[in-house]
Amino acid sequence: MLRPIENIFDNRDYPDLLVGLGDPDDAAVWRLDDERALVVTTDFFTPVVDTPYEYGAIAAANSLSDVYAMGGTPFLALNIAAFPPELPPDFLGEILRGGAEKAREAKVVVVGGHTIQDKEPKYGLIVLGFVHPEKMMTKGGARPGDVLLLSKPLGFGTTTTAIKGQKASQTNMNEVIEWMTRLNRDAASLGVEFGVRGATDITGFSLLGHAWEMASASGVGLRFKWEKIPFTSGAMRYAKDFIFPGGASDNRLYFSKNVHFIREMEEYEELLLFDPQTSGGLLLAVPPANMEPMLQRAEEIGQPLWVVGEVTAGKQIEIV
Ligand code: CO
Ligand code: CO
Repeated sequence: MLRPIENIFDNRDYPDLLVGLGDPDDAAVWRLDDERALVVTTDFFTPVVDTPYEYGAIAAANSLSDVYAMGGTPFLALNIAAFPPELPPDFLGEILRGGAEKAREAKVVVVGGHTIQDKEPKYGLIVLGFVHPEKMMTKGGARPGDVLLLSKPLGFGTTTTAIKGQKASQTNMNEVIEWMTRLNRDAASLGVEFGVRGATDITGFSLLGHAWEMASASGVGLRFKWEKIPFTSGAMRYAKDFIFPGGASDNRLYFSKNVHFIREMEEYEELLLFDPQTSGGLLLAVPPANMEPMLQRAEEIGQPLWVVGEVTAGKQIEIV
């Protein structure tokens, strides 16, 4: 689908375009001067939870995340929304308030936007941020020997699907909402502080899909340790009942050719690694010498980080 526009724009014509469609990443990056580059991204989606305020907050946290995934600091945003005319205005107002208060928490100002009518609600942000051109984190920045850290657990897709089918417990629901509304800000600033060059955020393509994007962009392999991967409390239970969004099997179909399961896996365990995440955590490839001080600082500031694997000289994703 994107191929036609790749041919219209040639990166060589835009020397200040540091990250564009030529090397697709979480956000586009445009150099302003030696010390500053502009980070630009947009994202929007249909409701993942029933409560409008939380939906708005999750969508905003997710949109902001693509700036954080580049090591950037967001500062300005626009709303982008589609609302069914029959929904009460209060409901729509709550979505926008949830998004705006999340943006304010991130020290981002919402300055406008655009809304259309549509059958199903859709909401997200266009976000602008700054990054130092030499401290940027990209999908192509992972090096063999780097340690892989994850900043949120997995299990959001299976749990939100259980919520939609009224099969999720209140506790499990609150737990994933708390994770999905959590900003990736502190995980990103730790990455920049500790010399991380390879990073991405885990969203619709699942852990293994986004891991593969990182592996292929960096020309490396990634090895995950199953026992080290964190999941939300309800994830295993819903997965065992095969409550997954459709995207989980799509992801498996598309990405499994790049994945080598060395550990013997149950089918639901495999699907958990292909489970689409909304507003998931950052996957950070940390130079090994910086791992201990980074984990120590993370603990001091209350930012959870899980060591989930390592970057290898191989060419595929391994699960051991
Ligand atoms: Co992303
Ligand atoms: Co995105």
